[in-house]
Amino acid sequence: MFVLAITAAIFLVVAGLLLYALIRYRHRNLETYNEPPQIYGSNQIELAWTVIPLLIVVMLFLTASRVILATQDATKPKDAVDVVVVGHQFWWEFRYPKLGVVTANELHIPISDPKHPTPTYLELSSADMDHSFWVPRLAGKTDLIPNRVNTMWIDPETPGLYLGQCAEYCGAQHAKMLLRVYAESPADFAAWITQQQKPAVEDPRVAEGREVFLHNACVNCHTISGTMANGRFGPDLTHLASRDMIAGGAFPNNAFYLKKWVDNPDSLKPGALMPPMHLNEHDLDAITAYLTTLH
Ligand code: CUA
Repeated sequence: MFVLAITAAIFLVVAGLLLYALIRYRHRNLETYNEPPQIYGSNQIELAWTVIPLLIVVMLFLTASRVILATQDATKPKDAVDVVVVGHQFWWEFRYPKLGVVTANELHIPISDPKHPTPTYLELSSADMDHSFWVPRLAGKTDLIPNRVNTMWIDPETPGLYLGQCAEYCGAQHAKMLLRVYAESPADFAAWITQQQKPAVEDPRVAEGREVFLHNACVNCHTISGTMANGRFGPDLTHLASRDMIAGGAFPNNAFYLKKWVDNPDSLKPGALMPPMHLNEHDLDAITAYLTTLH
């Protein structure tokens, strides 16, 4: 309001003088037209229009600096949620270090009550190249840059699904590096965390699919907790079936798309870094059945 008051006053003075000059001195009659007296150099005027704006700018600078410093000094509430965000071609890795949860593409956070703030603090970096975390309804863009950690925080007060998107060109499938942020009530968030902390479901009915998974290259890139699969290159699949979408938010998470994806990711997302698995139809069905049980 202080900055607005100063700039509004300047606007009124300038616009007022301009209007006055336009009306008072407008050109009425060509016959009587005379060039107005020309003034060359005036220490008083020049000094005034140098010193006054200088003082105004210094005042605005000091005011803005104070607000910026106060914002940066704001203490992190003790109930803040910490999430490490790692950008990958072309998906998002979300790690909750204090809660022991790892997931991908779908970030779950608690809503923040102003009386009892629980903002989510994000530490953003990248595994390969520049990405940008952008959920327009929550905050501005923040870049994810290799070998550098950027930070930001978000604190939505209304529960719901907030859609976002990678906002820095990062390769062939940059456009399908989508983001979903689920802001939930504290109870729902706690329930989600409890569920994600559990080891992977071991359903005996899909034991064959699990064997196919564990005996293929899948384990080099994906983690399924409680099994020997502990790769970090691709998304953690421990609770894959609890997510709404696959392929960086590009396709719904159902058996049809999962099978297509495992068979040949390129058919859905040309340029995706996961190689085709070259499995036969029987193994494909078995592995798909296994993946759909990972709630
Ligand atoms: Cu990641 Cu664009």
